[in-house]
Amino acid sequence: MKGLILSGGAGTRLRPITHTSAKQLVPIANKPILVYGIEAMVEAGITNIGIIISPETGDDIRAAVGDGSVFGAAITWIRQEEPLGLAHCVLIARDFLGDDDFVMYLGDNMLEQNLVGFVSEFESRRSAPELGSTGALVAQILLTQVDDPSSFGVAEVDAAGAVVKLVEKPENPPSDLALVGVYLFDKTIHDAVAAISPSARGELEITDAIQWLIDEGYEVAHDVLEGWWLDTGKKDPLLECNRLVLDTIERQIDGEVDEASVVEGRVRVGAGARIVNSTVRGPAVIGENTVIENSHVGAYSSISDDCVVSNSELDHSVILANSTISNVPRLVDSLIGSHVVVDSSSRVPAGIKLMLGDHSQIELEG
Ligand code: TTP
Repeated sequence: MKGLILSGGAGTRLRPITHTSAKQLVPIANKPILVYGIEAMVEAGITNIGIIISPETGDDIRAAVGDGSVFGAAITWIRQEEPLGLAHCVLIARDFLGDDDFVMYLGDNMLEQNLVGFVSEFESRRSAPELGSTGALVAQILLTQVDDPSSFGVAEVDAAGAVVKLVEKPENPPSDLALVGVYLFDKTIHDAVAAISPSARGELEITDAIQWLIDEGYEVAHDVLEGWWLDTGKKDPLLECNRLVLDTIERQIDGEVDEASVVEGRVRVGAGARIVNSTVRGPAVIGENTVIENSHVGAYSSISDDCVVSNSELDHSVILANSTISNVPRLVDSLIGSHVVVDSSSRVPAGIKLMLGDHSQIELEG
């Protein structure tokens, strides 16, 4: 079995971060989202992995992942010139995939559950078809119950567990089971992606390809996800995901903590980092060579490598590498990109001075 991770796309919902960097490289507990996907595949025994990249962010993704050997994987890079849809990714990965079964995984998704059971279930179902199954089992999708199905791809499932219908963002949802970004396919999917046409938004939709399989009489099975799942393509789910992952970390102090500082609970402090006259309350992670000085870092914060936080207080925030936060009395629920400077000064005339990239979002206190 091979793996296909989708790491191209436009990332419009996470602008301005995605103007300059890939959303799949945004760190959760200081580890890029994409790396969690690669690790989950390797854990399920899938080491031959193709990764779809875009011309805009592909080089950064390649630099972050390397040849995959540190994860125990062999990576094949597949360039998608334009984000023409999830099914388009399957189309362009045809040479890499050959006739093998594969797991397709959206590179900006995070799951609590690993892929081991999902993959072994598909393999055992294919070797011993279940009683009452109508056609050959060619795909398996992962579903999860959601409160607002009308904003997701939704599946209708029959009493025997077969998927009978898929609809994108339905006005009248046939169920509350939304598609999670993990799919298993055999080679029949290549016929499906070649047969469908682009949707109204101009993309080759994977839901249309799976519906094609069902309409042609093939069987599509499903599994219901255990644990949480988040599409990290937006700020608030990303912070939520950071919170959930930080809840699982262990305390590890590799950097320096001076005598005037207090580091409470499950906190990771990276090598070369310095905590000076400050409080860090876990769960939290402080990256390598980052300096926290005369500050308070509250729970559920992830500060990446090479940052400086001085004379500030922050909580429940994610700060990307090489950023500086100085003299900020209280920063909460924030996602700050890399090489950002946030400073406050008491100089007169008073006023807020900003230099913001396109699509930035600032919420000032009223
Ligand atoms: P989406 O989040 O559905 O799309 P997007 O990345 O274009 O983001 P936005 O809606 O904010 O503009 O994509 C899911 C994953 O699949 C994500 O990791 C990007 C990837 N992808 C591709 O690799 N190629 C594509 O053509 C598309 C649409 C997505």
